[in-house]
Amino acid sequence: EWSMQNVLDEQIAIVNEKVGKDAHVICALSGGVDSAVAATLVHKAIGDRLHCVFVDNGLLRYKEQERVMEMFKDHLHLPVDCVDHSEQMLKALAGVSDPEKKRKIIGAEFIECFKNFKSEIEKRTGVRPTFLVQGTLYPDVIESCPPPGSDQKHSHTIKSHHNVGGLPKELGFELVEPLRMLFKDEVRKLGALMDVPRTFLARHPFPGPGLGVRIVGDVTANNALDILRRADEIYINTIREFGLYDEIWQAFAYFLPVRTVGVQGDQRSHSFMIGLRAVCSSDGMTADWYPFPTEFLKTVSSRITNQVKEVNRVLYDINSKPPATIEVE
Ligand code: XMP
Repeated sequence: EWSMQNVLDEQIAIVNEKVGKDAHVICALSGGVDSAVAATLVHKAIGDRLHCVFVDNGLLRYKEQERVMEMFKDHLHLPVDCVDHSEQMLKALAGVSDPEKKRKIIGAEFIECFKNFKSEIEKRTGVRPTFLVQGTLYPDVIESCPPPGSDQKHSHTIKSHHNVGGLPKELGFELVEPLRMLFKDEVRKLGALMDVPRTFLARHPFPGPGLGVRIVGDVTANNALDILRRADEIYINTIREFGLYDEIWQAFAYFLPVRTVGVQGDQRSHSFMIGLRAVCSSDGMTADWYPFPTEFLKTVSSRITNQVKEVNRVLYDINSKPPATIEVE
């Protein structure tokens, strides 16, 4: 009989069997629900032979590092190192505008980071870690693999999700992917079974490449990261204030490197645009835009343009998926 408890027991058994009694395992926590639930499951199975890393990749949201590290340590009791890779990441991304190139670079820098962390764990424990936990979900698996028998030329990978099949063999990791068969809502149920706090499980999904896919073009130009962080924080806080957070599947602000003319503080301005996205979805594969009350839109746009002086226009994104994707890159 199928139940979430059975899925949990079965996955713990599979992890135990796969990893065995001696091997060490590493896991990169993104700050999202998926990797946290995957790590918590693996931690239940093999205990402190699991070593987690949270990478500050330079593309995190406002105060994200402090917020998630507290969650991992104090609430989930996971063994986690925090590694600052932001300088290298932003150096590698400087001047790059092509979305696929950006994703590839972000993925490659992650791999670099894994390598260093792996060496660090080997030094610390005297054992080379041989397994890597990933919070890959079922929709990631099918979006990244062309259906069998399809014409490769026309069904090329929709996006190079760096967390699917992107790990080079020479790293020598075997993958542990306990969520591979699950959709997002099922992952939340699984997390609840393992006492992952509700507020954490209710967090909207956040992509591995972070703000890198929420800034159109070069992420290092225009002070975009800083502007976006402040605008996004205002947007999300306003959504919470209006009591709408749990009704929305995913919401975030994105940065458009387009300057238009406006008037701010009695002065002519020539400033950037912030796009607001909020969607309803069940698995991220298709999505509808969320119909905010007018009062909300009024409030949020005036807050952003008042508090973030680099922004003089806020746009609300009224596009479903398809034809638009959820993220903008
Ligand atoms: P798109 O933009 O493809 O997004 O409609 C669908 C869902 O996937 C998330 N997403 C990613 N997650 N690595 C991730 O871990 C990625 O590269 C990535 N790209 C998109 C996105 O946030 C949405 O929930």
